[in-house]
Amino acid sequence: MRLGVLGCSAIARRRTLPAAAEIPELEITAVASRDAAKAAEFADRFGGTATTGYAALLDDPEVDAVYLSLPTALHHEWALRALRAGKHVLCEKPLTDRADRTRELTALARERNLVLRENFAFLHHPQHRTVADLVADGRIGALRTFTATFGIPPLPDSDIRYDAALGGGALLDVGVYPIRAAQLLLGPGLALSGAVLRVDERRGVDLAGHALLVSPDGVFADLEFGFQHGYRSRYGLWGATGALGLDRAFTPPAEHRPLLRVDEQDHAEEFVLAAAHQFRDSIAAFARAVLDRAPDEPAWLDAAEETARLVEQVRAAAVRVPA
Ligand SMILES: NC(=O)c1ccc[n+]([C@@H]2O[C@H](COP(=O)([O-])OP(=O)(O)OC[C@H]3O[C@@H](n4cnc5c(N)ncnc54)[C@H](OP(=O)(O)O)[C@@H]3O)[C@@H](O)[C@H]2O)c1
Repeated sequence: MRLGVLGCSAIARRRTLPAAAEIPELEITAVASRDAAKAAEFADRFGGTATTGYAALLDDPEVDAVYLSLPTALHHEWALRALRAGKHVLCEKPLTDRADRTRELTALARERNLVLRENFAFLHHPQHRTVADLVADGRIGALRTFTATFGIPPLPDSDIRYDAALGGGALLDVGVYPIRAAQLLLGPGLALSGAVLRVDERRGVDLAGHALLVSPDGVFADLEFGFQHGYRSRYGLWGATGALGLDRAFTPPAEHRPLLRVDEQDHAEEFVLAAAHQFRDSIAAFARAVLDRAPDEPAWLDAAEETARLVEQVRAAAVRVPA
Protein backbone atom coordinates (compact mmCIF):
# COMPACT_ATOMS: atom_id res chain seq x y z
CA MET A 1 0.00 0.00 0.00
CA ARG A 2 1.43 3.37 -1.04
CA LEU A 3 0.74 5.88 1.72
CA GLY A 4 0.63 9.67 1.46
CA VAL A 5 1.05 11.65 4.67
CA LEU A 6 -1.11 14.75 4.96
CA GLY A 7 0.33 17.06 7.64
CA CYS A 8 3.64 16.70 9.45
CA SER A 9 2.12 16.54 12.93
CA ALA A 10 3.63 15.59 16.27
CA ILE A 11 1.76 12.28 16.31
CA ALA A 12 2.97 11.43 12.79
CA ARG A 13 6.57 12.16 13.78
CA ARG A 14 6.44 10.49 17.16
CA ARG A 15 4.30 7.42 16.56
CA THR A 16 2.68 6.81 13.19
CA LEU A 17 5.59 7.08 10.78
CA PRO A 18 8.13 5.17 12.93
CA ALA A 19 5.49 2.43 13.34
CA ALA A 20 4.67 2.48 9.60
CA ALA A 21 8.34 1.77 8.86
CA GLU A 22 7.89 -1.63 10.57
CA ILE A 23 5.08 -2.71 8.22
CA PRO A 24 6.43 -4.55 5.16
CA GLU A 25 3.32 -4.13 2.99
CA LEU A 26 3.37 -0.33 3.41
CA GLU A 27 5.53 2.25 1.66
CA ILE A 28 5.43 6.01 2.26
CA THR A 29 5.39 7.57 -1.21
CA ALA A 30 4.47 11.22 -0.48
CA VAL A 31 4.55 13.68 2.41
CA ALA A 32 2.66 16.99 2.41
CA SER A 33 3.00 19.98 4.70
CA ARG A 34 2.03 23.62 4.54
CA ASP A 35 5.73 24.22 5.03
CA ALA A 36 8.22 23.07 2.35
CA ALA A 37 11.11 22.62 4.78
CA LYS A 38 9.02 20.48 7.13
CA ALA A 39 7.83 18.27 4.25
CA ALA A 40 11.45 17.86 3.08
CA GLU A 41 12.62 16.93 6.58
CA PHE A 42 9.84 14.33 6.96
CA ALA A 43 10.53 12.90 3.49
CA ASP A 44 14.25 12.60 4.29
CA ARG A 45 13.51 10.81 7.48
CA PHE A 46 10.53 8.61 6.57
CA GLY A 47 10.63 8.39 2.75
CA GLY A 48 8.41 9.63 -0.08
CA THR A 49 8.32 12.78 -2.17
CA ALA A 50 7.94 16.09 -0.36
CA THR A 51 4.96 18.23 -1.39
CA THR A 52 4.02 21.73 -0.28
CA GLY A 53 0.29 22.07 0.37
CA TYR A 54 -2.11 19.19 0.78
CA ALA A 55 -4.08 19.29 -2.49
CA ALA A 56 -1.20 18.17 -4.73
CA LEU A 57 -0.77 14.97 -2.71
CA LEU A 58 -4.35 13.97 -3.49
CA ASP A 59 -3.63 14.18 -7.24
CA ASP A 60 -0.59 11.93 -6.91
CA PRO A 61 -1.23 8.58 -8.70
CA GLU A 62 1.55 7.05 -6.55
CA VAL A 63 -0.69 7.41 -3.46
CA ASP A 64 -3.30 4.69 -2.71
CA ALA A 65 -4.16 5.83 0.80
CA VAL A 66 -3.78 8.91 2.97
CA TYR A 67 -2.85 9.27 6.64
CA LEU A 68 -4.46 12.42 7.95
CA SER A 69 -3.37 13.94 11.26
CA LEU A 70 -4.43 17.55 10.88
CA PRO A 71 -6.19 19.43 13.69
CA THR A 72 -9.60 17.84 14.26
CA ALA A 73 -11.65 20.63 12.63
CA LEU A 74 -9.78 20.04 9.34
CA HIS A 75 -10.37 16.27 9.24
CA HIS A 76 -13.73 16.54 7.49
CA GLU A 77 -12.60 18.73 4.59
CA TRP A 78 -9.44 16.78 3.85
CA ALA A 79 -10.88 13.31 4.36
CA LEU A 80 -13.74 14.29 2.03
CA ARG A 81 -11.31 15.53 -0.60
CA ALA A 82 -9.18 12.40 -0.24
CA LEU A 83 -12.18 10.06 -0.62
CA ARG A 84 -13.40 12.06 -3.63
CA ALA A 85 -9.92 11.62 -5.13
CA GLY A 86 -10.38 7.84 -4.72
CA LYS A 87 -7.92 7.45 -1.82
CA HIS A 88 -8.45 5.25 1.23
CA VAL A 89 -8.16 7.23 4.47
CA LEU A 90 -6.68 6.53 7.87
CA CYS A 91 -7.79 9.57 9.84
CA GLU A 92 -6.65 10.47 13.32
CA LYS A 93 -9.30 10.35 15.99
CA PRO A 94 -11.86 11.79 16.17
CA LEU A 95 -12.97 11.33 12.56
CA THR A 96 -14.63 14.77 12.55
CA ASP A 97 -15.95 17.37 14.98
CA ARG A 98 -19.65 16.89 14.13
CA ALA A 99 -21.94 13.90 13.65
CA ASP A 100 -23.36 15.08 10.29
CA ARG A 101 -19.82 15.53 8.95
CA THR A 102 -18.86 12.05 10.12
CA ARG A 103 -21.94 10.59 8.42
CA GLU A 104 -21.08 12.40 5.19
CA LEU A 105 -17.65 10.76 5.19
CA THR A 106 -18.87 7.29 6.11
CA ALA A 107 -21.60 7.48 3.43
CA LEU A 108 -19.02 8.39 0.80
CA ALA A 109 -16.67 5.61 1.89
CA ARG A 110 -19.53 3.10 1.68
CA GLU A 111 -20.61 4.41 -1.73
CA ARG A 112 -17.10 4.35 -3.22
CA ASN A 113 -16.06 1.13 -1.43
CA LEU A 114 -13.06 2.88 0.12
CA VAL A 115 -11.54 2.08 3.49
CA LEU A 116 -12.05 4.87 6.01
CA ARG A 117 -10.78 4.29 9.54
CA GLU A 118 -10.47 6.41 12.62
CA ASN A 119 -7.08 5.75 14.22
CA PHE A 120 -8.18 4.60 17.68
CA ALA A 121 -5.05 2.52 18.23
CA PHE A 122 -6.27 1.07 21.54
CA LEU A 123 -8.93 -0.97 19.73
CA HIS A 124 -6.09 -3.09 18.32
CA HIS A 125 -4.68 -4.18 21.68
CA PRO A 126 -5.66 -7.79 22.51
CA GLN A 127 -6.07 -6.91 26.22
CA HIS A 128 -9.68 -5.83 25.56
CA ARG A 129 -10.52 -9.23 24.05
CA THR A 130 -9.24 -10.87 27.28
CA VAL A 131 -11.45 -8.54 29.33
CA ALA A 132 -14.50 -9.21 27.15
CA ASP A 133 -13.92 -12.98 27.35
CA LEU A 134 -13.68 -12.91 31.18
CA VAL A 135 -16.92 -10.93 31.39
CA ALA A 136 -18.67 -13.23 28.88
CA ASP A 137 -17.48 -16.26 30.92
CA GLY A 138 -19.28 -14.83 33.97
CA ARG A 139 -16.12 -14.11 35.96
CA ILE A 140 -17.64 -11.00 37.63
CA GLY A 141 -21.30 -12.05 37.31
CA ALA A 142 -23.95 -10.04 35.52
CA LEU A 143 -22.45 -6.73 34.45
CA ARG A 144 -23.79 -3.64 36.22
CA THR A 145 -21.37 -0.77 35.58
CA PHE A 146 -18.53 0.23 33.28
CA THR A 147 -16.25 3.08 34.43
CA ALA A 148 -13.61 4.58 32.16
CA THR A 149 -11.16 7.42 32.69
CA PHE A 150 -8.78 9.16 30.34
CA GLY A 151 -7.06 12.32 31.48
CA ILE A 152 -3.79 14.09 30.85
CA PRO A 153 -2.00 17.09 32.40
CA PRO A 154 -2.43 20.61 30.97
CA LEU A 155 -0.82 21.23 27.58
CA PRO A 156 1.31 24.13 26.32
CA ASP A 157 -0.80 27.23 25.75
CA SER A 158 -0.30 27.12 21.95
CA ASP A 159 -1.55 23.53 21.60
CA ILE A 160 -4.23 22.93 18.94
CA ARG A 161 -6.38 21.36 21.67
CA TYR A 162 -7.02 24.82 23.19
CA ASP A 163 -8.15 26.30 19.87
CA ALA A 164 -11.93 26.10 19.36
CA ALA A 165 -11.63 26.92 15.63
CA LEU A 166 -9.33 23.90 15.15
CA GLY A 167 -11.68 21.49 16.93
CA GLY A 168 -10.06 21.69 20.35
CA GLY A 169 -11.48 20.62 23.68
CA ALA A 170 -11.23 17.61 25.96
CA LEU A 171 -14.41 15.90 24.77
CA LEU A 172 -13.15 15.61 21.19
CA ASP A 173 -9.56 14.90 22.16
CA VAL A 174 -9.68 12.55 25.16
CA GLY A 175 -13.41 12.07 25.88
CA VAL A 176 -13.80 10.04 22.72
CA TYR A 177 -11.65 7.25 24.21
CA PRO A 178 -13.95 6.29 27.11
CA ILE A 179 -16.91 6.68 24.75
CA ARG A 180 -15.38 4.31 22.21
CA ALA A 181 -14.38 1.88 24.99
CA ALA A 182 -17.99 1.82 26.23
CA GLN A 183 -19.09 0.97 22.69
CA LEU A 184 -16.48 -1.79 22.53
CA LEU A 185 -17.42 -3.43 25.83
CA LEU A 186 -21.16 -2.71 26.08
CA GLY A 187 -22.11 -2.79 22.40
CA PRO A 188 -24.14 -0.40 20.26
CA GLY A 189 -27.26 1.55 21.23
CA LEU A 190 -25.86 3.43 24.25
CA ALA A 191 -28.12 6.24 25.45
CA LEU A 192 -26.95 9.40 27.17
CA SER A 193 -28.38 10.07 30.64
CA GLY A 194 -26.42 13.13 31.61
CA ALA A 195 -23.19 15.01 31.17
CA VAL A 196 -21.16 17.86 32.57
CA LEU A 197 -18.37 19.84 30.91
CA ARG A 198 -15.91 22.23 32.55
CA VAL A 199 -15.43 25.06 30.09
CA ASP A 200 -12.64 27.57 29.61
CA GLU A 201 -14.81 30.48 28.58
CA ARG A 202 -11.93 32.63 27.32
CA ARG A 203 -10.74 29.99 24.87
CA GLY A 204 -14.21 28.56 24.19
CA VAL A 205 -13.15 24.94 24.73
CA ASP A 206 -14.05 22.33 27.33
CA LEU A 207 -11.20 21.18 29.57
CA ALA A 208 -12.87 18.22 31.29
CA GLY A 209 -16.10 16.32 31.48
CA HIS A 210 -18.15 13.40 32.73
CA ALA A 211 -20.84 11.51 30.86
CA LEU A 212 -23.30 8.92 32.10
CA LEU A 213 -24.60 6.46 29.51
CA VAL A 214 -26.88 3.43 29.73
CA SER A 215 -26.67 0.36 27.51
CA PRO A 216 -29.83 -1.21 26.01
CA ASP A 217 -29.69 -3.94 28.70
CA GLY A 218 -29.35 -1.47 31.55
CA VAL A 219 -25.59 -1.39 32.24
CA PHE A 220 -24.39 2.07 33.36
CA ALA A 221 -21.32 3.62 31.75
CA ASP A 222 -19.66 6.33 33.81
CA LEU A 223 -17.06 8.13 31.69
CA GLU A 224 -14.57 10.80 32.78
CA PHE A 225 -12.00 12.73 30.80
CA GLY A 226 -9.98 15.90 30.72
CA PHE A 227 -6.72 17.71 30.39
CA GLN A 228 -6.53 19.19 33.86
CA HIS A 229 -5.37 16.00 35.58
CA GLY A 230 -2.54 13.73 36.53
CA TYR A 231 -2.20 11.16 33.75
CA ARG A 232 -4.80 8.40 34.09
CA SER A 233 -5.89 5.90 31.47
CA ARG A 234 -7.97 3.04 32.82
CA TYR A 235 -11.31 1.29 32.90
CA GLY A 236 -13.17 -1.06 35.19
CA LEU A 237 -16.17 -3.34 34.98
CA TRP A 238 -18.28 -4.07 38.04
CA GLY A 239 -20.61 -7.03 38.11
CA ALA A 240 -22.93 -8.89 40.47
CA THR A 241 -20.11 -11.01 41.96
CA GLY A 242 -16.90 -9.12 41.32
CA ALA A 243 -15.01 -6.33 39.59
CA LEU A 244 -12.30 -6.14 37.00
CA GLY A 245 -9.82 -3.34 36.38
CA LEU A 246 -7.37 -2.58 33.60
CA ASP A 247 -4.74 0.15 33.92
CA ARG A 248 -3.02 1.86 30.93
CA ALA A 249 -6.11 0.89 28.97
CA PHE A 250 -5.83 3.45 26.17
CA THR A 251 -2.15 4.20 25.64
CA PRO A 252 0.01 1.31 26.84
CA PRO A 253 3.58 1.56 25.51
CA ALA A 254 4.51 -1.22 23.05
CA GLU A 255 6.64 -3.03 25.64
CA HIS A 256 4.12 -2.71 28.49
CA ARG A 257 2.70 -5.97 29.86
CA PRO A 258 -0.80 -4.97 31.00
CA LEU A 259 -1.97 -5.85 34.49
CA LEU A 260 -5.57 -7.00 34.71
CA ARG A 261 -7.00 -7.40 38.20
CA VAL A 262 -10.12 -9.31 39.18
CA ASP A 263 -11.59 -8.72 42.65
CA GLU A 264 -14.17 -11.04 44.12
CA GLN A 265 -15.70 -11.13 47.63
CA ASP A 266 -12.89 -13.15 49.22
CA HIS A 267 -10.36 -13.40 46.44
CA ALA A 268 -8.26 -11.25 44.11
CA GLU A 269 -6.35 -12.38 41.07
CA GLU A 270 -3.94 -10.54 38.81
CA PHE A 271 -3.21 -11.46 35.21
CA VAL A 272 -0.12 -10.13 33.44
CA LEU A 273 -1.05 -9.99 29.76
CA ALA A 274 1.09 -9.96 26.64
CA ALA A 275 2.55 -6.67 25.40
CA ALA A 276 1.33 -5.38 22.03
CA HIS A 277 2.35 -2.54 19.71
CA GLN A 278 -1.17 -1.20 19.23
CA PHE A 279 -0.11 1.78 17.13
CA ARG A 280 1.73 -0.37 14.61
CA ASP A 281 -1.10 -2.90 14.64
CA SER A 282 -3.69 -0.22 13.90
CA ILE A 283 -1.78 0.95 10.82
CA ALA A 284 -1.07 -2.62 9.74
CA ALA A 285 -4.78 -3.47 10.04
CA PHE A 286 -5.61 -0.45 7.88
CA ALA A 287 -3.06 -1.55 5.25
CA ARG A 288 -4.49 -5.06 5.25
CA ALA A 289 -8.03 -3.69 4.91
CA VAL A 290 -6.92 -1.65 1.89
CA LEU A 291 -5.08 -4.55 0.30
CA ASP A 292 -7.67 -7.27 1.06
CA ARG A 293 -10.87 -5.18 1.35
CA ALA A 294 -11.59 -6.75 4.75
CA PRO A 295 -15.20 -7.87 5.25
CA ASP A 296 -15.57 -6.06 8.61
CA GLU A 297 -15.28 -2.57 7.12
CA PRO A 298 -18.96 -1.62 7.69
CA ALA A 299 -18.51 -2.27 11.41
CA TRP A 300 -15.73 0.37 11.55
CA LEU A 301 -17.96 2.90 9.82
CA ASP A 302 -20.92 2.10 12.10
CA ALA A 303 -18.72 2.53 15.19
CA ALA A 304 -17.39 5.90 13.98
CA GLU A 305 -20.96 7.11 13.43
CA GLU A 306 -21.96 5.93 16.91
CA THR A 307 -19.02 7.72 18.56
CA ALA A 308 -19.89 10.92 16.70
CA ARG A 309 -23.56 10.62 17.72
CA LEU A 310 -22.65 10.21 21.39
CA VAL A 311 -20.15 13.10 21.31
CA GLU A 312 -22.82 15.31 19.84
CA GLN A 313 -25.33 14.26 22.50
CA VAL A 314 -22.85 14.96 25.29
CA ARG A 315 -22.16 18.39 23.81
CA ALA A 316 -25.87 19.17 23.47
CA ALA A 317 -26.96 17.92 26.90
CA ALA A 318 -24.02 18.82 29.12
CA VAL A 319 -24.39 21.13 32.08
CA ARG A 320 -21.55 23.63 31.66
CA VAL A 321 -19.40 24.67 34.59
CA PRO A 322 -16.84 27.48 34.23
CA ALA A 323 -13.19 26.49 34.63
N1 LIG B 1 -4.23 8.25 17.89
C1 LIG B 1 -3.55 8.88 18.82
O1 LIG B 1 -3.03 8.27 19.77
C2 LIG B 1 -3.36 10.38 18.74
C3 LIG B 1 -2.43 11.01 19.57
C4 LIG B 1 -2.24 12.39 19.43
C5 LIG B 1 -2.99 13.10 18.52
N2 LIG B 1 -3.93 12.48 17.76
C6 LIG B 1 -4.76 13.24 16.81
O2 LIG B 1 -3.92 13.68 15.75
C7 LIG B 1 -4.31 14.96 15.30
C8 LIG B 1 -3.10 15.89 15.36
O3 LIG B 1 -2.64 15.98 16.69
P1 LIG B 1 -1.12 16.45 17.01
O4 LIG B 1 -0.98 16.53 18.47
O5 LIG B 1 -0.16 15.58 16.28
O6 LIG B 1 -1.16 17.93 16.40
P2 LIG B 1 -0.01 18.88 15.82
O7 LIG B 1 1.35 18.39 16.20
O8 LIG B 1 -0.38 20.27 16.19
O9 LIG B 1 -0.13 18.66 14.25
C9 LIG B 1 -1.18 19.10 13.47
C10 LIG B 1 -0.64 19.31 12.05
O10 LIG B 1 -1.71 19.80 11.26
C11 LIG B 1 -1.21 20.71 10.28
N3 LIG B 1 -2.03 21.92 10.31
C12 LIG B 1 -2.79 22.36 9.29
N4 LIG B 1 -3.41 23.49 9.59
C13 LIG B 1 -3.04 23.81 10.85
C14 LIG B 1 -3.33 24.90 11.72
N5 LIG B 1 -4.16 25.89 11.35
N6 LIG B 1 -2.75 24.92 12.93
C15 LIG B 1 -1.93 23.93 13.31
N7 LIG B 1 -1.61 22.87 12.53
C16 LIG B 1 -2.15 22.82 11.31
C17 LIG B 1 0.25 20.96 10.60
O11 LIG B 1 1.01 20.23 9.65
P3 LIG B 1 1.89 20.96 8.53
O12 LIG B 1 2.48 22.18 9.20
O13 LIG B 1 2.88 19.94 8.17
O14 LIG B 1 0.98 21.32 7.41
C18 LIG B 1 0.45 20.37 11.99
O15 LIG B 1 1.73 19.78 12.13
C19 LIG B 1 -5.49 15.39 16.17
O16 LIG B 1 -6.70 15.10 15.51
C20 LIG B 1 -5.36 14.50 17.41
O17 LIG B 1 -6.62 14.22 18.01
C21 LIG B 1 -4.10 11.14 17.85
